[in-house]
Amino acid sequence: MQPAPTPCLSTGILVQCRPGFEPDASLELQAAARAARVEGSITEVINSGFALFQLSVPAPRDELRRRLDLSRLVFSRQGFQMVGSLEDLPEKDRLSPLMSAITALGERFSALLLETPDTNDGKQQSGFLRRFGPLLEEALGKAGLLRSDSPHLPRLHVFLADSRRALLGLSLASEGSAWPMGIPRLRMPKEAPSRSTLKLAEAIMGLLTADEQKATLRPGLLAVDLGASPGGWTWQLVSRGLRVTAIDNGPMAPSVAATGLLEHLRVDGFAWKPRKPVEWMVCDMVEQPSRIAPLMAEWVASGRCRRSIFNLKLPMKRRYDEIERCRALIDQRMRAGNIKYILRIKHLYHDREEVTCYLTRR
Ligand SMILES: C[S@@+](CC[C@H](N)C(=O)[O-])C[C@H]1O[C@@H](n2cnc3c(N)ncnc32)[C@H](O)[C@@H]1O
Repeated sequence: MQPAPTPCLSTGILVQCRPGFEPDASLELQAAARAARVEGSITEVINSGFALFQLSVPAPRDELRRRLDLSRLVFSRQGFQMVGSLEDLPEKDRLSPLMSAITALGERFSALLLETPDTNDGKQQSGFLRRFGPLLEEALGKAGLLRSDSPHLPRLHVFLADSRRALLGLSLASEGSAWPMGIPRLRMPKEAPSRSTLKLAEAIMGLLTADEQKATLRPGLLAVDLGASPGGWTWQLVSRGLRVTAIDNGPMAPSVAATGLLEHLRVDGFAWKPRKPVEWMVCDMVEQPSRIAPLMAEWVASGRCRRSIFNLKLPMKRRYDEIERCRALIDQRMRAGNIKYILRIKHLYHDREEVTCYLTRR
């Protein structure tokens, strides 16, 4: 009998981030590795769109996954365990060396994610990606390596760091984004009053499971939108049939008011409280994170709302530290009430200098 093939080892972790956020992604990745007692060193190039943590000693993938959960990383739009790299890819035939390297991994995959950094250089490769993706997918299929009917298999990442250099990686669907490079292709809805509607649309898809979306975003449920003008976030809620109280001194767009599901109050979002509990409170007020985080915690802890999606604006340099400070403020309020809670935080594709959070009782 042939011995079972040994799964390939992980040599590092690569996270993709918004260009300019590499220091934050690196700090966070290093802190996670320290906490997981995983030794290695970070390579981060500013504006490269990614950070790479190289393990001191290659490790079995399952063990690394158990110790370090990539899905919890805020600044990682997409992440994977690195299992190989190719330098000096010939421009005329990138398929053959890639297929040899992928075959040598001795793995099968549930999906192929062909990716580049989200930089201007990366974008220049998008035409090539569109042509090359189907070719690579076909070659993987012919070799029996791609099994889209087996979602438990790892996904294969082929990350073209530049036109000559490919990094190969593996991730489980539960660890990373469903979208290549963590970039959802969302269409701007015609009636939505502002582009920031896409932030809440992405947050709903990226921070909630499909079951959570179905159960909590239903017609007739009540919601509050703090800092709602002109109504991009409110639009996401009313378009799903929720009844929304919008709090803002600024005006709400006629397209949102026309739904008949809107109540608009020109009052202070820090002082106003609903008469009865609501399912959702969302908040996009431009304020210091250290003021927003306790307010959000108070709404959830006191039962004013069951769940909340909110932004923390991060114009400061030490963004990672600020997020940790906000986590601590929320934790302090929840502990005081002896409340178990879920807090998910992500730097979404549509976020600029801000991150988006989901908070609810467990
Ligand atoms: C980024 S905008 C919100 C955009 C909105 N989410 C959308 O999608 O159209 C921030 C809003 O917060 C409001 N705001 C700031 N501080 C506030 C406060 N203390 N109470 C109520 N609204 C406030 C501002 O008037 C502004 O309209």
